[in-house]
This record gives sequence, C-alpha cells and structure tokens, in this order.
Amino acid sequence: MERDDKKLQAHYEGHPADISLDDVDLDRLPRHITIIMDGNGRWATSRGLSRAEGHRAGVDSLRETITACVRLGIDYLSCYAFSTENWGRPQQEVELLMQLFAVTLENELPLFDQENVRLEFLGDIDALPEEVRDTFHRGLERTKGYTGMTLALAVNYGARAEIARAARLIAQDVADGRLAPADVDEQAIASRLYTADMPDPDLLIRTSGELRLSNYLLWQLAYSEFYATDVYWPDFDRYELLRAIRAYQNRNRRFGKVAS
Ligand code: FPP
Repeated sequence: MERDDKKLQAHYEGHPADISLDDVDLDRLPRHITIIMDGNGRWATSRGLSRAEGHRAGVDSLRETITACVRLGIDYLSCYAFSTENWGRPQQEVELLMQLFAVTLENELPLFDQENVRLEFLGDIDALPEEVRDTFHRGLERTKGYTGMTLALAVNYGARAEIARAARLIAQDVADGRLAPADVDEQAIASRLYTADMPDPDLLIRTSGELRLSNYLLWQLAYSEFYATDVYWPDFDRYELLRAIRAYQNRNRRFGKVAS
C-alpha cells in the first residue's frame, strides 16, 4: 500500500526511548497483520472499572491500531472481535458487545472514508442481531470501492465452523457436477474460506499474555509468526505495534525449509 512518509514520521514523533520507526525496516513490513484482541475485561477489573468500560477502551485501541497500520502502509489488518464461543458470555455482556459493534462501525465510517479503508467481515454476520447485521452491510457497501488498507473484522467467527462451511460448499459443488473430487486441493478449500481474497497473515499478535489460538484462523495461520505480549488490549498502542513488527523482522521465516 502507498505510504505517506511525512504523515508516518509525524505519527511516530515523540516515541518512547526503547522503540522508534528506526527500529523497523519499512521495506520488509508484514503484508497482513492479524490480532487477537484480548484482555479488555482484565484491564477494566484491574482499574476498578466495569467490563463495559474495558470494551469501550478496546475500541479506542482498535482505532489507534487501524490508524497506525494505515500510516505504516500495511495492506491487510484483521482483528478477532467476537467468536462463535463468545455467545456463551452473560447475556448482558453479549448485548453490550453487539451494541458496541454497531455503534463503533457507524462511528468509524468517516475514518474509513478519509483513509480509504475497505471493510471485510470474517464469520457468519448474517446470524447477528438485525441492527448489527444491517450496519455491517452498510459498511461493506460504503467501503467496497476503497483501495487502501483492507480491515477484516472477525465477528461471529470460528475457524472450525469456517472449514466445515468450506467442506459443505465443496460437497455441493461436487454433487452439482461443478467440481471433481480429484480437484479438491488446498486452493479449493482456501478459496471457500472467508479470507478467500486475502493473503495469509504474516504476523499474529495476541495481547494479555495468553498463548492460545482460540479457534482463530486455524487454516490461514499455518506459517504465521506468533507474537504474544502481556499488555492488555486497551493498552496496546502504535508503539506496541512497532515492537511486534520489530520482533517479527528478527525472525527467520523458513516455511518448513532450511535457512537460506
Ligand atoms: C477481549 O477481551 C475483547 C473482546 C471480546 C471484544 C473486542 C471488541 C472490540 C475491541 C470492538 C470491536 C469493534 C467492532 C466494530 C468489531 P475479553 O473480554 O476477553 O477480556 P478478558 O479476557 O480480560 O475478560
């Protein structure tokens, strides 16, 4: 993606002592960064605040991260906002999150307009409450022609359900005679996932010290570098993002081969 170097330098002015733009190679940035945003609840509890306030602070972090990725010229940013398992949270929290998703998306549309951000959703968004579903579809419609960064929000997403869905679509194509069983290869599966038109993530970030995949992008993360930080999601900022990228650039990605 095009990068405006002046805007980027200004965005990272006044950096902390241990990290600055000089610590990352702007010519070797990950093309697709994906984030498991975790720790809103613990962040709030540790401050004597309600979980709702944690989620609201999490929205601020999401906005901060979107803007930093746009400034850096990242092509794809995806974020895990709500899993198929999250329906099991107390009803009040689920309702709050649904409302937060609708309001947040509506509020951020001007940012997407301004920064040319194209929206995508990973997951079964048509099973969401009507207000959320309608807002998401409006967001998709409004940003579909944008050519800057792609922001993919995983909402009502589960990786096993996604793979089962791909298998169902393949079975239907085989039953209808559009696809021969011998042609069911990795590409046939990848092209039926929610991420069909996106490259696999290069870098997975998970906040709040947890070291699990939690049913997230199981297929797509096969060769991604994993960066875990103890920072709770509401404390994740543009500098934490740089630290993650620095760690990523210090890895030696071999894709199952030997070092070159
Ligand atoms: C994890 O914290 C965070 C979430 C379940 C929700 C994250 C959602 C946002 C930041 C808003 C996204 C906005 C849109 C429009 C999709 P947690 O509650 O699991 O924290 P805990 O593990 O400390 O309890």
